[in-house]
Amino acid sequence: MSGDSRRSAPHVARNAGPIAQVLKGVLPERGLALEVASGTGEHALHFAREFPGLLWQPSDPEPAAVRSIEAWRVEAGLFNLLPALSLDARAAEWPVPRADAILCINMVHISPWAATAGLMRGAARLLEQGAPLYLYGAYRRAGVVTAPSNEAFDESLKARDPDWGLRDLEEVVAEAEKNGFGLENVTEMPANNLSVAFRRR
Ligand SMILES: C[S@@+](CC[C@H](N)C(=O)[O-])C[C@H]1O[C@@H](n2cnc3c(N)ncnc32)[C@H](O)[C@@H]1O
Repeated sequence: MSGDSRRSAPHVARNAGPIAQVLKGVLPERGLALEVASGTGEHALHFAREFPGLLWQPSDPEPAAVRSIEAWRVEAGLFNLLPALSLDARAAEWPVPRADAILCINMVHISPWAATAGLMRGAARLLEQGAPLYLYGAYRRAGVVTAPSNEAFDESLKARDPDWGLRDLEEVVAEAEKNGFGLENVTEMPANNLSVAFRRR
């Protein structure tokens, strides 16, 4: 695997620290953490280092993303970072039979709604009672004015793909509840993002 496959997303350097702080109150101390939509793999590297009690399983459906995650992983040589899997959240079966936590960062608004619905169904299959499902990203919220930067972001997403765009948090919560998850907490994050933590009922 060539180091040339490594991709880098500048936002990861900014948000990985604040996300890790929230995850300290969400993730179990031990077990398997499945990351859906790992993208470049830089979050996986950061969190595998930050949470050495967890086995970190990165994944993404895009072959170039899987190559990037693998290139970072091989270079880092972290004992608890597993080889990247090809995983599409919409699939009826995922290549992981169970997990103790599932995370999905910046996918819900940058994919068709079917990906979010698939994520909730898959998380319900893999997680046992009490296990967390953690989402991070930009959302609209009832009664809260969407920041101008997020309105512009929403427009740019829809210009790239009309099926993308900021989701209403209430719709995401309803989809999670339909699949057996209860909302645990919502944390405001830098740059008008939210951490949204659910637990399997
Ligand atoms: C904006 S990137 C976010 C990557 C990374 N989590 C981050 O925050 O840097 C969105 C990711 O969602 C992935 N994605 C899109 N549709 C998906 C699906 N149906 N199942 C799983 N991942 C998907 C893309 O391949 C891409 O890597």
